[in-house]
Amino acid sequence: MKPVKIGILGLGTVGCGTVNVLVRNGQEISRRAGREIKIVQASARDLDKKRPCSTDGIKLVADPREIVRNPEIEIVVELIGGHDVALELVLEAIANGKHVITANKALIAIHGNEIFAQAQKKGVMVAFEAAVAGGIPIIKSVREGLAGNRIEWIAGIINGTSNFILSEMRDKGADFADVLKEAQRLGYAETDPAFDVEGVDAAHKLTILAAIAFGIPLKFKQAYIEGISRITRMDVQYAEELGYRLKLLGIARRAGGGVELRVHPTLIPERRLIANVEGAMNAVLVKGDAVGPTMFYGAGAGAEPTASAVIADLVDVVRTLTADPNHRVPHQAFQPDALTDTPILPIEEVETSYYLRLHALDRPGVLADVTRILADQQISIEAILQKEPSIGEDTVPVIILTQRVKEKNMNEAIKRLEKLSSIKRQVARIRLEHLNADWK
Ligand code: HSE
Repeated sequence: MKPVKIGILGLGTVGCGTVNVLVRNGQEISRRAGREIKIVQASARDLDKKRPCSTDGIKLVADPREIVRNPEIEIVVELIGGHDVALELVLEAIANGKHVITANKALIAIHGNEIFAQAQKKGVMVAFEAAVAGGIPIIKSVREGLAGNRIEWIAGIINGTSNFILSEMRDKGADFADVLKEAQRLGYAETDPAFDVEGVDAAHKLTILAAIAFGIPLKFKQAYIEGISRITRMDVQYAEELGYRLKLLGIARRAGGGVELRVHPTLIPERRLIANVEGAMNAVLVKGDAVGPTMFYGAGAGAEPTASAVIADLVDVVRTLTADPNHRVPHQAFQPDALTDTPILPIEEVETSYYLRLHALDRPGVLADVTRILADQQISIEAILQKEPSIGEDTVPVIILTQRVKEKNMNEAIKRLEKLSSIKRQVARIRLEHLNADWK
């Protein structure tokens, strides 16, 4: 059979990783796909730049539109990132009848509904394994491997940069800002590191996971997003003393007739496997009603781990090039006419446990005031810990762990706590999840 001709938009880290792995494992990949996969064209901003891959046999072009308009190319691999130019190119490629593979989480999370609708009309595939958790085959696992389940919830460490920062803060007792610099030096962080540390990157990935897990449209704008930039060394250390680890989790869960879609720092019991995912690694915990909890672990970024996911998509697309579009795996795991518009729950309606850090004057009756306010909001205390005052401080840190309660009750309690004359500074609140196998 003739080789399948593909074009790559963007020859950066992942683009070059894809070229290298396709060349190195070419024979093995063709044995799986049934045809040779040949990169005929690739676009790059700077054609003369030295890059970590050989471009022999690949025609380099500066204008990516040449690739999406090239009639001999059947599959376009979009690796330029961002979501303006990428959207234009992907829609044009689809309009020209080309299949698309992308690693672009922002593009799919924000414009996926439109992209899938256009692809459906044209009978082409859009594959996006590399958009979520890098090399971990999480899209394929949720969409195909767990297809017999009613998925109940997903909780994932899906931003390596934040996980690296939190791990270093714990291991080295370092401050957030210092570790962020180190993450940037190591090249983990996005071009704009706020995307990593403020939870946006994780929310893009979580939006995609929720869509394929629950068969709902992509609703990035409705995700609750809170990052790790306000986490202090103190909180990491107190969490540890109480038997918890602090992680930036993306949680998607069916609850109360809707879906929770939330990214925030979370305390999780240290005995959980996912609590022990360290450094820039990713892990996704998926709970299905039949299978129970399953966990997927691996590199969430990097040239070759991401290339691994891109090429798995290439093999899938090549295998079904000649299949009737109705016989292919649907983009969002569920048939397009079977998606349900389940509402995303506002964060005020979400129920979780909490870690609170208060700075209280050390005098009689303070804790009685605090516990009365919590009781008024139906908040039950799980544990309480009073620490030594720091040198030069007239307050003592008080750490409280609570049982599950709706966020709106906790907001009200915090508002009242902060009004007490005995409570100084803002109350720090971090959500806590036990991630038990029987959590529904
Ligand atoms: N900046 C991302 C991360 C890279 O830290 O996980 C992969 O999306």
